[in-house]
This record gives sequence, C-alpha cells and structure tokens, in this order.
Amino acid sequence: MKPTILNNRIIGVDLGNSFTKAAFIDGSGSPRAFPNRDGTMVTPSVVYVSLGGKEILVGQAALNMAQIEPERVFANFKRYVGTDHIFGKAGDIEITATWLQAQVLSYILESARERFGDPQAGSRVVVTVPANFNERQRQSVCESAKMAGTTVDDFINEPTAACLAHGLAQKPGDSLSLIVDKGGSSTDTSLVQYQGGVATVLASEGSNELGGQDVDKLLMGLLQEEFRSQHGLEFTAKSHPGEFFRAEEEVIRVKQSLSSRREARLTAQANGLVVAITITREQFADLLAPMMARIKELILKTLAAAKVDVSDINQVVKVGGSSRILPFRDLLNEIFGEKTVVGGDISPDFCVAEGAAIHAIKLATAQGATVVDEELQAIPAPAISHADVMPHSVGIAVQDKAGGKLRCCAILFKNGPMPGQAVRRFASVTDDQRHFRVVILQGEDKQLLEECLVVAEKEIQFKPRSHKQPSLEITLAYDRSSMVHVVVHDLVGGLKEDITTKFFGNGN
Ligand SMILES: Nc1ncnc2c1ncn2[C@@H]1O[C@H](COP(=O)(O)OP(=O)(O)OP(=O)(O)O)[C@@H](O)[C@H]1O
Ligand SMILES: [Mg+2]
Repeated sequence: MKPTILNNRIIGVDLGNSFTKAAFIDGSGSPRAFPNRDGTMVTPSVVYVSLGGKEILVGQAALNMAQIEPERVFANFKRYVGTDHIFGKAGDIEITATWLQAQVLSYILESARERFGDPQAGSRVVVTVPANFNERQRQSVCESAKMAGTTVDDFINEPTAACLAHGLAQKPGDSLSLIVDKGGSSTDTSLVQYQGGVATVLASEGSNELGGQDVDKLLMGLLQEEFRSQHGLEFTAKSHPGEFFRAEEEVIRVKQSLSSRREARLTAQANGLVVAITITREQFADLLAPMMARIKELILKTLAAAKVDVSDINQVVKVGGSSRILPFRDLLNEIFGEKTVVGGDISPDFCVAEGAAIHAIKLATAQGATVVDEELQAIPAPAISHADVMPHSVGIAVQDKAGGKLRCCAILFKNGPMPGQAVRRFASVTDDQRHFRVVILQGEDKQLLEECLVVAEKEIQFKPRSHKQPSLEITLAYDRSSMVHVVVHDLVGGLKEDITTKFFGNGN
C-alpha cells in the first residue's frame, strides 16, 4: 500500500534575509502561505537572545526588543550563512548564522504545529536558498534544520521556486520567462523555459550585494553624512545602538513610501540632535543608479549565459519585496518594455515559499506517497515540475604554469543542466610518484584556490605506475539538490572512494 502523508507535514519555507515565509499545498492542490503563531503572514527574520541564553524571541517580538536591548537583537544574518562568523555569546550558546536560522525555523515549525493542530506538522521541509549558495552554505541550512528538529527533503533555488509558483498560477504555455527576485539581501535571476508543464532553468545568476538592505544602507549613508556635516557626529550602530536601530526602521519606512509617493522626509535623532532630509523620487533614483546598473549587468549576464536576446523573452516576472522599488520597475520596463513585465498573477512576497511547497508535494508524490488533506482526500499533484542548473563550476585544483599557484580547473560548469556528472582521468607526473593530492573546488574556472570553496580533499598513496597512462579517475556530480558528489578511483591501486562531504538531513 502507498504511504499516505498529511499535507501539513511537508511544507515549503523561504528563509528570507528580511522575512521568512512558509506555505503548504491545500486540498485543491494550490499552494497557500500560512500565518505564524502571532497571526501575521511574514515573520521578520530577527532573533533576540538574552545574555544568559534563557530567553529567545523570534519575529516581531524580537524586533520589539530592539528598543530595549538592541545589542541582543540579531537581523540581516543571511549573508553570514556558511561562514564561521560569531555574532556573540548567550550563556553556552555560540551565536552563528546557522544557530540564528535554526531559531527562525523552529518558530515557523511551532507556528505550523499550532496552525494545523498537528504535532508533526512541518516534520519535512523544502527550504529555498539563493541560487548562488555554495555547498557550505547549503550544509549550514541543513544543520539549522537539524537543530530545529526537521528534515530537509530538498533545497530549491529561490528564483526557481518562484518560477514554479508562476508556472502553476499563470500557465504561461510554451514560453521563455525571466524571473527577477529583488529581496532583502540579494537580487537573483533565473531564465526559465516553460514547456509542457516543465519549467527548465537555462541560467541563474545572483548577487548578494543588491538587496533591499543595500538600499537601506545608501539612505542611512545620507543620514550619517548629515550628522557629520551638521553636528560633527559619527552616527553608527556601535556608537548609538538604540538610536541607530530606530533610524534603520525610519529608513525602511521612507524607502517603502517612495514606492508610492513623490517625496518623503527622513529624520533621525542622536545625542538629542536631530537631522532631517527630504528625498524626492528623482534623488532616490540617482542614489540607486549604480545599483540599477549592476542589476542590469546581472540580467544581461543571465541572458548571455543561455545565449538568449532581450527580444526572445516573452515575460519578465518581478519577485521579492524590493521589486516594488520604482527605479527597479523602471529598469525592467526600460530593458524589456512594459508589456513584457508581469507579476500580478503571483504574490511577490509568497511565491518563493509557495514554489517550495509545490516542490515538496511533487517530491513526496514522486517517492510514491499519496498526499492527503485533513479529510483524508487525496490532493492532486500540481501540474508543474522543474529542472535546474548547476549553481557554480566544480573542478580540481591544478598548478598554474606561470606562477605555480593552485587554481580551479573546472570539470562541471556553472549553468550546466542538473543533475549532471563528468568523469576525468589523470596521469601521474613521474613513474615513481608516491602521492596524489586531490582537491575538489567549487568556484569558477581558473579561479585561485583561496577564492574557491574546497568541497572534498584526499591524499592518495600511489604504487609505481607509468606516467604515460592515465591512472586516476575522478567522477564529479551535482545531484538534483545542487550538492556535489565526488568519487576518486585509483585504477592501478584499486582504491575507489566516495569523498563527498558528509551531509545532514536526507542522506545526500
Ligand atoms: N513597498 C516597498 N518598497 C520598497 N521596498 C520594500 C517594500 N516592501 C518591502 N520592501 C523591502 O523588501 C525587502 C524584503 O523583501 P523580501 O521579503 O522579498 O526579502 P527576503 O526574501 O527576506 O530577502 P532575500 O530574498 O534576499 O533573502 C526589504 O528590504 C523591505 O524593506
Ligand atoms: Mg526572498
């Protein structure tokens, strides 16, 4: 008999830098975002931890603590995922991005359990990650999920998830679409070919310096400059924690109002001194011009990677909270023409989580399970699936001829179809070579080792052999979850080993 799974037990979670959102598939087979335990649909990705670590608050409750203990409130930590950065300590707890993400995820899971009245709600999740997250960042998310007590069934890249939600909602027929997600920490793009209910990603690009947070920094820079020139005051998060936090909130409010109003007044206070600036829509556009130029570059790079012209694109889908920014809308209209740019059929805020939920139910169904609603009625699987591309190139470290530096010699290439694999054979340098150090890098072709991520490493002891014959075989593969698998095979010595970095969750 086929196993049956309740729909609330497999959910999609979009761990956004600014807001975390979650969705499930309802009885009609449609994705639907669900509210958190405070009753709101988006959860600020903000965590408060008391000094001793006894009290942990997530979301709006954490944000409220910024007025009282700003130094114990952690936000905008997505850029630190996969790094060793330590934000601080709370009792025995070392506050890392992995730990912070785990707190947010725990809160979402608690919300799911309350919302559905089921202690097992959200016991399996599909989590979205930026398309350009590397192996270590993806592992960090898995570790967070493990800490939060759930299993990651799969990852799906954020713009790819959005394209599933778009594909299901709008049924774009056979067409070529560009999804542009401008969120809190990054702008991500995916070029997608829709054909016969399958969304095939042809290329993905992302830059984690082009998010709403960076817009906030530019506006904050204006305030800081005003404090400096008017009062000779250095206004920073360190020097004025509480006032800086309030100014950040004001900056976000002003930025958002500029998405609908012609001008807005930005004010801030520190040491009893007040500064105020009026910003017009035109000044805002000027301030963002360099960022928009970089977004344009990113978009054109995405098209170039798949050898597609601007005129080939049938529609452009705007995603993410920051896609409401007018200079960004103007940019898309300028490149593609107003008619091409759409977005009304899906929610810019929830489509990523919804896409994750679509993928979650598709996976469960593909594994032979019947997904049912609370009345135990079978839920039809959404009529859309996807194929993605490799997020980064992967290769082997080789010594460059000129300076002797180690660089990545790519074997699998970024934007290649995924899953995918390649096999390469190498010869020893001399007949009596005794060692071979295999270093597998995730990065780009010819990039220096220091700039790449080492995803696997192995020192192999060699028996004597002829250097004229290739004797070492390396198999590199990306699985469907964008994880790298590495097998080394010494064809003379016989050793054959899977040196894939061991992974949490679903046994990848
Ligand atoms: N009306 C608006 N005008 C301008 N910016 C807005 C508006 N509404 C929301 N934003 C900005 O959108 C961002 C949040 O968007 P979103 O929820 O898509 O990001 P995220 O998913 O958390 O981030 P990421 O995808 O980078 O991880 C914030 O920077 C927020 O200030
Ligand atoms: Mg997002």
